[in-house]
Amino acid sequence: MARVLITQPVYREAVDRLRSDGHVVVERSGPPLGADDLAAAAEGCEAIVCMLTDDVGEAVFARNPQLRVVSNVAAGVDNVDLDAAASAGVAVTNTPDAVTEATADLTMGLILATARRITEGDHHLRSGRFAGWRLMQHPMGLDVTGARLGIIGLGRIGSAVARRAHLGFGMSVSAVRRPGRRPSDESVPVQPLDLEALLAQSDIVSLHCPLTSATRHLIDAGALSTMPAHSLLINTARGPLVDEPALGRALRDGTIAGAGLDVYEREPSVDPLLASQSERVVLLPHVGSATEGTRRSMCLAAVEHVRGRLS
Ligand code: GLV
Repeated sequence: MARVLITQPVYREAVDRLRSDGHVVVERSGPPLGADDLAAAAEGCEAIVCMLTDDVGEAVFARNPQLRVVSNVAAGVDNVDLDAAASAGVAVTNTPDAVTEATADLTMGLILATARRITEGDHHLRSGRFAGWRLMQHPMGLDVTGARLGIIGLGRIGSAVARRAHLGFGMSVSAVRRPGRRPSDESVPVQPLDLEALLAQSDIVSLHCPLTSATRHLIDAGALSTMPAHSLLINTARGPLVDEPALGRALRDGTIAGAGLDVYEREPSVDPLLASQSERVVLLPHVGSATEGTRRSMCLAAVEHVRGRLS
């Protein structure tokens, strides 16, 4: 029987499944762990169930030769040193299937909120500035139905967004795909484009690619400058895909019209976006997968990965 570290509180059911196999579960609570602290916490553990906010760096593998599996409760493994894991022979798993629909739903929410200026309208009214219906009233938005949506990363979540956008809102969808990767859903027409063309031709750009050294700051000042002035950027993937100070400046200067964001470069800080003083930024606290059903499925999937590797 093995010792399993869980770095943050999870659903009881997930812990119970591990205990029913006879494993000793070490439950931790508190803030996310840096690599050194995680290495210490994982002492004697063969498995770690960790969160996307934990830094599963080299020290974790160097100091825990008994480790067999790192199970990330997340879509993606950008917080894990994959080279160190591979050299140490440790399996790294994640839970991409569990988050697809909830994250695609939230992406649509941000598209609607940003294009139709929903949070801005709410603030406008609550601050006593609603003077009744006018033909030319504030805030005027962008038509969502029929808009051109550019998706960067047509994996599970990108495809689920494409489906909602096309079938639900009649949007024309284009996408930048990873070379050699087939889309996960071919039922929706998606025009393949290179990044430059997609940025120049889309009314709304939505990010759904993984964070890697190749995609870090994919959206930088140069990329933003090629987007139309009326366009919107949506990010429900990972914060560092965007050069946030550059986005803050682009919003302040009107290079693009607005942004709907759920993830940030240095969470929980959103300073560069607040500094833009732009009202057309909708900021959510990293809640793409935050529904009871989805978070429960993520926990259970992560625990099943551990059970499978330890059996
Ligand atoms: C959230 O960002 C996740 O990866 O589940």
